[in-house]
Amino acid sequence: MAVSELKEKLFNYADLKTELAGTRLAPLLDTVPDNFAARINHGDFPGWKQVIESLPALKPASVDLLDEVRIGEKSQLQEAEREELKALLMGLQPWRKGPISLYGLQIDTEWRSDWKWDRIKEQISSLESRKVLDVGCGNGYHCWRMAGAGARIVVGVDSHLLFNLQYWAIRHFLPEPPVHVLPLALEDIPADLGAFDTVFSMGVLYHRRSPIDHLYALRDCLRPGGELVLETLVIEGEAGMTLMPQKRYARMPNVWFLPSCATLQSWLQKSGFKKIRLADVNQTTTEEQRSTEWMNFESLGQALDADNPALTIEGYPAPKRAVFIAEK
Ligand SMILES: C[S@@+](CC[C@H](N)C(=O)[O-])C[C@H]1O[C@@H](n2cnc3c(N)ncnc32)[C@H](O)[C@@H]1O
Repeated sequence: MAVSELKEKLFNYADLKTELAGTRLAPLLDTVPDNFAARINHGDFPGWKQVIESLPALKPASVDLLDEVRIGEKSQLQEAEREELKALLMGLQPWRKGPISLYGLQIDTEWRSDWKWDRIKEQISSLESRKVLDVGCGNGYHCWRMAGAGARIVVGVDSHLLFNLQYWAIRHFLPEPPVHVLPLALEDIPADLGAFDTVFSMGVLYHRRSPIDHLYALRDCLRPGGELVLETLVIEGEAGMTLMPQKRYARMPNVWFLPSCATLQSWLQKSGFKKIRLADVNQTTTEEQRSTEWMNFESLGQALDADNPALTIEGYPAPKRAVFIAEK
């Protein structure tokens, strides 16, 4: 396989800078350090970079981002070439968000992130021609689906380096993508940007020590009348009830607050949102989140009480997720 000529494009936002120049989104890029790649001081980075630089130069015969994330066709690669591609991408493990199909190679990720999207896509305002922000986007799986749903531009932010590299691996095969994942935290985004039509925060709120500050920051990214799509872990209970796990929750160390739906509704109200609507509540199953060849660490199955899967191994209610939709 030929080595790609796109290798210098890793963490290169020149095209995006041109596209955003003079728009309300332009200040976004001021927060990405120049020469970002050169400043990375992570021991695994050289190996990850090598993976991206070794990807074959291929142009997809077809792409589907509407019904799935599928780039290229099986017939475009020989079986041995597909195995080579698989060996390369295995170097970017763990793959958590997907599934993603690349030239017939199925990246079977820990999460069936498509199921989450299926629960959300009919509930939200049409993304047609909208400017969209996906906060805590991971490798950008849902960003691709948002682009498939017609968004004019999708910006994802996630400060986790490996997930950014996974995005660049996918993006490698789409030279002019409508999706841009930036290595930023929400807190890095200039205050009062007020520029996005839709802002997603999915699977992030419970990781924040200050959930109300998170809601304020999400609101500040939206234009007046813009839509927030918030997905997070919740518990059963009345208004005012919130679980704060003392140590781990479902094996995760960095979980702070799990509100009841009624509590979360009041948090959204207090944070200045209107037309707040509970769009979905869903118990996470071990079919939706599980270990796979592409993520071979422990997963949800090992985080639940073997005798009573309604509880986590710490004795808390098992993961249940709610989707709220609200307007600025
Ligand atoms: C559980 S994953 C959710 C990924 C994806 N949004 C989804 O719903 O499948 C949470 C992600 O949020 C990111 N994250 C946590 N705090 C963040 C912050 N303040 N700003 C941006 N990303 C954040 C983490 O790095 C992680 O990739």
